[in-house]
Amino acid sequence: MRRTQKKLIIPVCLTMAGMLAAATSYAQTVTIPVETQNNALVLQTDGDKNLKMVYFGHKLGNAKEYESILGMYKQADDSGVLNDAYMPSGSASLAEPAITVTHADGNKSLNLVYVSHTVTKIDDDISLLTVNLKDPAYPFEVTLYYKTYFKEDVTEQWSVIKHNEKGVVTLNKFASANLNLKGNGFWLKQYHGNWALEMQPEEAKLTHGIKTIDSKLGTRANLYEPSMFMVSMDQPATEDEGKVMLGALEWSGNFKIDLELDVSNNLRVIAGMNNAASEYHLKPGEDFTTPAFVYTYSDHGKGDASRKLQRWARKYKIVDGEGDRLTLLNNWETTYFDFNEAKLADLMKDTKKLGVDMFLLDDGWFGNSHPRNGDNAGLGDWQENKQKLPNGISSLVKEATANGVKFGIWIEPEMVNPTSDLYVKHPDWVIKQPNRPEKYFRNQLVLDLANPQVQDFVYGVVDNLFTKNPTLAYIKWDCNAVIYNAYSAYLKKDQSHLYIEYVRGLYKVLERVRAKYPKVPLMLCSGGGGRVDYGALKYFTEFWPSDNTEPLERVFIQWEYSFFYPAMTSSNHVTDWGKQPLKFRTDVAMMGKLGFDIVVGRLSENDLAYVHGALKSYDYLKDAIWHGDQYRLQSPWDNDAASIMYVNDSKTKAVMFNYLVNNRYGTGTKVPIRLKGLDPQKKYQVKEINLYPGNNSSIGNNLAFTGDFLMNVGINPDVNSGRTSVVIQLDEAK
Ligand code: GLA
Repeated sequence: MRRTQKKLIIPVCLTMAGMLAAATSYAQTVTIPVETQNNALVLQTDGDKNLKMVYFGHKLGNAKEYESILGMYKQADDSGVLNDAYMPSGSASLAEPAITVTHADGNKSLNLVYVSHTVTKIDDDISLLTVNLKDPAYPFEVTLYYKTYFKEDVTEQWSVIKHNEKGVVTLNKFASANLNLKGNGFWLKQYHGNWALEMQPEEAKLTHGIKTIDSKLGTRANLYEPSMFMVSMDQPATEDEGKVMLGALEWSGNFKIDLELDVSNNLRVIAGMNNAASEYHLKPGEDFTTPAFVYTYSDHGKGDASRKLQRWARKYKIVDGEGDRLTLLNNWETTYFDFNEAKLADLMKDTKKLGVDMFLLDDGWFGNSHPRNGDNAGLGDWQENKQKLPNGISSLVKEATANGVKFGIWIEPEMVNPTSDLYVKHPDWVIKQPNRPEKYFRNQLVLDLANPQVQDFVYGVVDNLFTKNPTLAYIKWDCNAVIYNAYSAYLKKDQSHLYIEYVRGLYKVLERVRAKYPKVPLMLCSGGGGRVDYGALKYFTEFWPSDNTEPLERVFIQWEYSFFYPAMTSSNHVTDWGKQPLKFRTDVAMMGKLGFDIVVGRLSENDLAYVHGALKSYDYLKDAIWHGDQYRLQSPWDNDAASIMYVNDSKTKAVMFNYLVNNRYGTGTKVPIRLKGLDPQKKYQVKEINLYPGNNSSIGNNLAFTGDFLMNVGINPDVNSGRTSVVIQLDEAK
C-alpha cells in the first residue's frame, strides 16, 4: 500500500515574466510537471523521497490532476523500483540503471533521493528545471536538468554528477536521461547504415527485455547506428497520427541508448554516453556533466514531432539557423586529388557560369614531403602543396573574388596519415596502442584530442586558414576514420577517459573556433553522415548526409534525415552518380541546401539554362525550404512517387517536390496528392517550375485553388516515366 502524502505541485512553466528562480525543499510528496505548450513530463516523489517519472504525454488542463496519475496504475509495481527518474544501481532499484558507481571505499551501491528543485525561467520560451538528488549514505549527488522550449515542445535533459568522498569515485555508467513511458505497446523506429548507405530505417514492436542502440566507434560514431530514434506509443504512429517521441543524443562519440520494456509493460529509455571501456574517475568536488538528450513528443504523428524538432534546431541549436546559406560548386567528384592552379581557375569561372555563390575546394591541396595525391599520405601536413598550388590558397581566394564568387576549403584536422611529417614529429599525438600493430581506417589514424596540445594544433589549422585568408567563406570539416586501438599517451593512467575526453576536446576546439568566427558557415562531414548529431551541429551550419549522391538513393536518405534535422542543414549536391537526368538530380538536391559537384563544361546549353532557371526558383523558394515548415506528403518507401513540401511561415508561398522512385511499367501518380500546412481560406496560384527547356507542363497553366481544395482533394503532379521529377510552386493569389 502506498502511504497517503500531503501533495504539492510546482509546475515548471511559471507564468511570471523575466528571470525567476524558485527554490523549494519539501519533505512531503512533491509533484513536478515539466510542461511545454502541448506536453508534460511529470516527476513525483514517493513516500521514501524516491523521484519517479509518472507521466509523459499530452499535458493536462488542470495541473492539480497530475498528482492523481500514479493512483490509476495497478501494475503490481509495489516495490516502486521501476520508474525512477534516474535509476541508481546496487540498492533497491533493480532495473537497467541510469547510473552505476564505485564509491571511494569500493562500495558499489547507490541510492538517490529527492532533496530540492529549482525552476528558472530563462525567457518567454525557455525554462530550466534542476532537481537535486543525493545518496543518504554517501556525500554523492546528481542534479537532473530539464531545459524546456515551451513553444517548440522540446526538452533537453542532462545530469551533473559530483561527490565529496574521501577519494576518487569511479562512474561505471552515467546516462543523460532516463525516461519512463506508459503505453499499450511501443514501436521503435531506429536506423542503421554504413558508408554511402546512411539512415536505413527499421521499425518494430519492442518486446520485453532491453533493446540497445549504440556506438563504440569513437569518432565517426554514427556510421553504423546513429543515436536518433523514435518511439510510438499504443500503435505505430504515422506521419499525421499517433503518439510518438523523437529523441537524439547531443554527443559525437560513443553512445548507448537502452530501451527496456519492463515487467510492468512500461518502457524505460536510458540514453547517454556509452560506458563501454569508459569508466570515469571522478575526483572529489569535480563535476561530471553528461551531454544532453533532446526529445520531443507529439500525439499528431511523426510529421508534427519532426517539425517541432526542426523549429527548435533552427532557432536554438544549429549555427545561424534563421540565416542564409551559400549555394556552391565542389570539385571532389570532378577532380578528386588531381588539380592544379590552372584547373582551379577554370573551376572558379565555372562557379560563376553556373551561377552559384561559392567554389569549395576539396581534399588534396596540402602536403609537401608527402603530397596529398591520394588518401594514403599527407593528412596532418596542412601546408599548401607547392607543386599544385605554388601561389598558395590566398591566390585562389583572390581568383574566386575576381570571378565574383566566394571560396571555401576542405580540411580533416583530427586525422593523420602515417605517411606525413606530423606523424614523424609527434608520434605521441596519435591514438594507437604502444604494444600493438597499427590498424588504419582509410589509411589514417586519429589524433588525440584529449591532449590540449593537439587541441591547439587542430584549432590552429582552422585559425591559420582564416587568419591568412580573411575572406575565406566556408570550411568543410571532415572526419573519415574511427578509433582503433584506443590509447592516449597523454591520459596515462586514465585510459578509460579517452572516448569521452576526445569528444570534449573536439568541442573545446569548436568552441574556440566559434568564439572567434561566430557565423562562418561550416559543413560537418564524416565520410558522409558518420557524425550527424546535435552535439556537433551546435557548431555547424550544415552537414553532409552521405557520399552517396545517387539521386534516387538520396530521396530516401534525405527523407529519413528530415525527421530529425531541418532541410537547411542537409547539404545536397548534384553529382554525376547514377543515371538520372540533370533535372531529377537538381530537383532532389533542392529539397535541402543545394550544391553542385559536376563538370560544368560538360553541360549542354539546355542543361545550363535549366540550372539557371532552377537556381532562380531556388532563390525565390529558399525561405520556405530553409526556414519554413516541412511536410512529408508521400513516402518513397510505400509509393511509386515520393512527395514532400515546404511552406513559409505566413503560408503565402510553398513548394512541392515529387520524385518517381519506381521504375516498373506504368508507374506514376494516379491520384492527387493532398497538400498540407496551407491556409484553407487562401487561394493559391499553382504552377510547375524547373521545367527542362522545351518541355511544357502537363498539369496545366494558370491554375489556382484554395488551400481547402489543395489539402482535401490535392493536386496530381502527373509524375510518370516521362516526367520523373516534378516541382510545383504555390503562391498566394493576390
Ligand atoms: C570524404 C567526404 C567526401 C570527400 C572526401 C575527400 O569521403 O565525405 O565528400 O570530401 O572525404 O577525401
